[in-house]
Amino acid sequence: MLVIALDPPFGPSGEYSGLKIVEETSAYAVSYKVGLPLVLESGPEVIRAIKETSGKRVIVDFKLADIGDIMVRVLRKLAESGANAVIAHGFVGVGDGVEKLVEEARMLGVDVILVTAMSHRGSRKYLDKHFEELLADALELGVHGVVVPATRPWLIERARKAVKDELKIYAPGVGVQGAEPGSALCAGADYEIVGRYIVRSPDPGKIAREVYEAQLRSVRTCRG
Ligand code: XMP
Repeated sequence: MLVIALDPPFGPSGEYSGLKIVEETSAYAVSYKVGLPLVLESGPEVIRAIKETSGKRVIVDFKLADIGDIMVRVLRKLAESGANAVIAHGFVGVGDGVEKLVEEARMLGVDVILVTAMSHRGSRKYLDKHFEELLADALELGVHGVVVPATRPWLIERARKAVKDELKIYAPGVGVQGAEPGSALCAGADYEIVGRYIVRSPDPGKIAREVYEAQLRSVRTCRG
């Protein structure tokens, strides 16, 4: 249920390494998400190092948004580096776009997760207006999952109705951005993505355990 976003700096003043955070939190995470900040700082080898240290899956979140051929080239390099899943923007559209990424990912055994809305206010101006269409494309493409922000649980409810059990819903925005642990799961998400609240804390292992336990309590209450 818990995906930990490994965005540096780690610890309150950057005193931890990413792998130290992984060692301390792997008992509570189903997977880790890495983005451009960590991969640019540490190199793509960090993807395999996280997998080996944790024994968990690694989602690479570069929010790919290019023509299909370019996304395919990036995907191949990420697959070589050990990525289990990649996050891309659905708004690129189908037609020499996102479907090329999805076809190649299927051949490489890498999951694709598409962004359908975001937690920041700017999402309202363009992205949110196409939320239902982005969900419909994700369904039609048969991707692994979609990203829907935990900060707007009503969008998660709408997404769950639209995708039923066919796609996984990943919800970022828990902790620093304001959503409570477990709230997105109760709205219908499969996973909550938590970054700064855990990785910038003085005791990431303790906070990860607290988030995980809060998720369990919420799910027991709302799902019975
Ligand atoms: P926090 O706020 O927990 O962020 O430090 C965790 C991670 O989630 C990503 N993020 C988002 N990705 N839609 C997305 O596709 C969103 O609404 C969103 N909000 C946060 C962010 O990249 C970070 O790694």
